Amino acid sequence: MREIDVALLTGSLRQRSFSRQMGRAASRLSPRGMTLSIVEIGDMPHYNEDLESSPPAAFTRFRERIRAADAVLFVTPEFNRGIPGVLKNAVDVGSRPWGKSIWSGKPAAVISTSPGTVGGFGAHHQLRQVLMGVNMSTMAYPEAYIGGVAKLFDEAGELVDASTREFVTGFLRSFRTWIDQLRAPVPG
Ligand code: FNR
Repeated sequence: MREIDVALLTGSLRQRSFSRQMGRAASRLSPRGMTLSIVEIGDMPHYNEDLESSPPAAFTRFRERIRAADAVLFVTPEFNRGIPGVLKNAVDVGSRPWGKSIWSGKPAAVISTSPGTVGGFGAHHQLRQVLMGVNMSTMAYPEAYIGGVAKLFDEAGELVDASTREFVTGFLRSFRTWIDQLRAPVPG
């Protein structure tokens, strides 16, 4: 059977980002048969409908990449109790032109991260609301709010916290099941 191709979008652009490190860790902990690869979103201009007459190459590249993916995993930090603008921009770019959204019906899952204790809860739920608006099939449970994220990685960016490794491994197994269920033919 073909590998399940999961596009991984992170809401932080900085190189040492904990969300990025979590995304990379998730890609290493992914169950057999499912590949996670980071799709860069930092090079896309702010969404502006006027650009659609001649879409920027970065928009086209992004849309084609996500269209080809079987599912999307979002790993995001929280900025001022909400989603980082760069991630919202990516969702907006993918949702247009009208009638050609790349998101509709695609399986999704959300992991939020924060060095604080609340684990990015505000951003997490704001993102879920946005994904509902673009008709993604977002896994409801398990929920992943990763607090204290600054303490979970070593200098090389390896996820060294054993309980978080176990949690992320289980989370990805559930996501795999979620994707399989959505791809299964409807009986009858
Ligand atoms: C933050 N940070 C933050 N953290 C949080 O838990 N809730 C919040 O509302 C905010 N707000 C916020 C706004 C802005 C503009 C910045 C730059 C940061 C702290 C944030 O969680 C921390 O910087 C993370 O390390 C950012 O994520 P990455 O880049 O490590 O993935």
